[in-house]
Amino acid sequence: MKKIIFIYFFIFSISFAQQKTIEQRVDSVLVLMTLDEKVGQLVQYSGGWDTGTKTSKPKAGHDQLAREGKIGSLLNIFGAEITKNIQKVAVEESRLKIPLIFGLDVIHGFRTTFPVPIAEASSWDPVAVELSARWQAIEATASGIHWTFNPMVDIARDPRWGRIVEGSGEDAYLGSKMAAARVKGYQGDDLSLSNTIVACAKHFAGYGAAEGGRDYNTADFSERTLREIYLPPFKAAVDAGVGTFMAAFNEIGGIPSSASVHLLTNILRDEWKFDGFVVSDWNSIGELIPHGVAKDLKHAGELGFKAGVDMDMEASAYFNHLSQLVTEKKISMQQLDESVRRILRIKFRLGLFDDPFKYCNAEIETQTLRSEKLFKASLDMARRSIVMLKNEKNILPLKKDLRQIAVIGPLAESKNDPLGPWNQQGNPDDVVTVLKGLQNKLGDKSNIVYSEGCSVDGDSKAGFEHALNVVKNSEIVILCLGESLNMSGEARSRATIDLPGVQEDLAREIVKSGKPVIVVLMNGRPLTINFLSENANAILEAWFLGVQSGNAIADVLFGDYNPSGKLPVTFPKHIGQIPMYYNFKNTGRPYNPNDFYTSYYLDYSNTPLYPFGFGLSYSSFEYSDPVLSKKEISKNESLRISVNVINTGQYDGEEIVQLYIRDLVGSATRPIKELKDFAKIFLKAGETKKVEFTVTPEKLKFYDINMNYVVEPGEFKIFVGTNSVDVKEALFSVVD
Ligand code: BGC
Repeated sequence: MKKIIFIYFFIFSISFAQQKTIEQRVDSVLVLMTLDEKVGQLVQYSGGWDTGTKTSKPKAGHDQLAREGKIGSLLNIFGAEITKNIQKVAVEESRLKIPLIFGLDVIHGFRTTFPVPIAEASSWDPVAVELSARWQAIEATASGIHWTFNPMVDIARDPRWGRIVEGSGEDAYLGSKMAAARVKGYQGDDLSLSNTIVACAKHFAGYGAAEGGRDYNTADFSERTLREIYLPPFKAAVDAGVGTFMAAFNEIGGIPSSASVHLLTNILRDEWKFDGFVVSDWNSIGELIPHGVAKDLKHAGELGFKAGVDMDMEASAYFNHLSQLVTEKKISMQQLDESVRRILRIKFRLGLFDDPFKYCNAEIETQTLRSEKLFKASLDMARRSIVMLKNEKNILPLKKDLRQIAVIGPLAESKNDPLGPWNQQGNPDDVVTVLKGLQNKLGDKSNIVYSEGCSVDGDSKAGFEHALNVVKNSEIVILCLGESLNMSGEARSRATIDLPGVQEDLAREIVKSGKPVIVVLMNGRPLTINFLSENANAILEAWFLGVQSGNAIADVLFGDYNPSGKLPVTFPKHIGQIPMYYNFKNTGRPYNPNDFYTSYYLDYSNTPLYPFGFGLSYSSFEYSDPVLSKKEISKNESLRISVNVINTGQYDGEEIVQLYIRDLVGSATRPIKELKDFAKIFLKAGETKKVEFTVTPEKLKFYDINMNYVVEPGEFKIFVGTNSVDVKEALFSVVD
């Protein structure tokens, strides 16, 4: 007992000694720890979801583990009271009183659902995305959460992969901006505040490159592709101060990421100097056995730990075997100490040693969850996330005096699907459907009639007749099509990316009616929608926008919000074109319609349906030719590029001006263009603005033939425009 009092006094007297640095405080705890207590910090288990309700609390036995100092973290538990109770056990009943850290997947909201990440990325608005993450952190922390397993920064070039919905699309530069914004939003300026949450860059690395787009599948690509395409958003997260990383499930070229010394130690620790901790993905250490690199769980634990995974989520490899591995000297005490140190460091940064209960205030929880401010923030983000893909003859925005509007389709009145795949504690009852959004907007000024037409999936056309009758008497059709929330996300890959079920058949019948058709799409991935693209009068890509879906969509449909979103990912025309991304290589035989032996398909075109960066506005923008401050620069010099953008339309609006660069000759091949900067500008109708970009040496660097990251002298092309295809060009050179 005396010893316990002494230890308690020792740790907490240090915690009040403000002059001590976090590193000193970490060491002062570490020195007191037994081998088993050290291992305990590296163990993470999941709470249990209660069937039928959306709560999750510790499982039987977790209390005892906390009491014995055999667990460092729990995931999937939340609630001010629930977290307080088990935290109490850890800090009042365990020998060293080290607080637990509670993690949860707050991906697009906790209780108030925000747009899915791919939707938010469509805003090309890092400031708004940061704010969205900030709000999500405010809400989650009020319910006891310290740590979110987000941002998911995996670049995805294959829309079959269901988890494309969780990321920011296909581009490393845009992905890096989004990664940094989310880290800053979650973590704020000071992790020790009670409304900031530690972020986690995941899944490290290459998870989005799963072959065939099948989740968990093998990835295999070069070191160059790793560094140029997959790593930049992770590096951006480190530069933004991210506190944790998650190791991925997949292998890259024979080495599972959760056992990759190259990724977890050489790159993350040695090159990038990351000082936070790495958690495995769910049982990804255990999965080293089926991967075929570990003979049993002990071996798996050894491989994962030695590669650099600090915390074992759910595999029990560390819980069961790490102490023994240390005793057998297969793992050194020094290595173990380093991992413990990283975890304690984050707990100190969160301020958990100073006040382990500061996230556990039931009153604050009640006031914060589902607050009006959160709903407003979600609405703001939702409007910014919508991408207008088509607007024939400016049919949109609609007038507010339409006599009768037909609202058709399986997603028009769905309360569940707009919540998206990682909806956490989101409640369908909070969702404003498209139908409701239109009713909110128009009141009884128009007669709004609804028919489901068909379900998202399935082959029944029984509802077509009713839908067509509704259409017959209406002036306009708002047709809400897409995927259900369960068709994207983890383990939800699709081999086809057409509209599921008989939705396209429904669209064909409705188009035959001759009524103007406005399509609202809800989906977690790019879809092959050639028929809609050719035959609908307008298309809005709404992704899954969260609780305020219907209000945001109605605002755009009726011109109360001028859409400004741009696609963060290419929409192919045909599944056979995949992988399809804008920054492809030229090849030795770029497509030439007059030359048979060039790179193309016999039976299909090479062009996308909608290119990366594409999105329309109610305004129209014209670009001047780009003007360069110099035609020639040295390797260490920067260059300024300016362009005048004019809003030639009738509406005030925002435009996302995009800058792409191509290195024309390199010691290794370069993509035909790469996004290097963008600016979101607001222009009043008729207004002209000058947009200026600075091309720094950093933007011209690449991995040369020897994998050195350098600027190579030579000619460069720049492209400025409204998307990755409609651009104006200029040339400049870099000299030695
Ligand atoms: C997912 C992660 C997630 C973890 C914890 C895994 O299955 O791959 O993205 O953070 O579960 O829920």
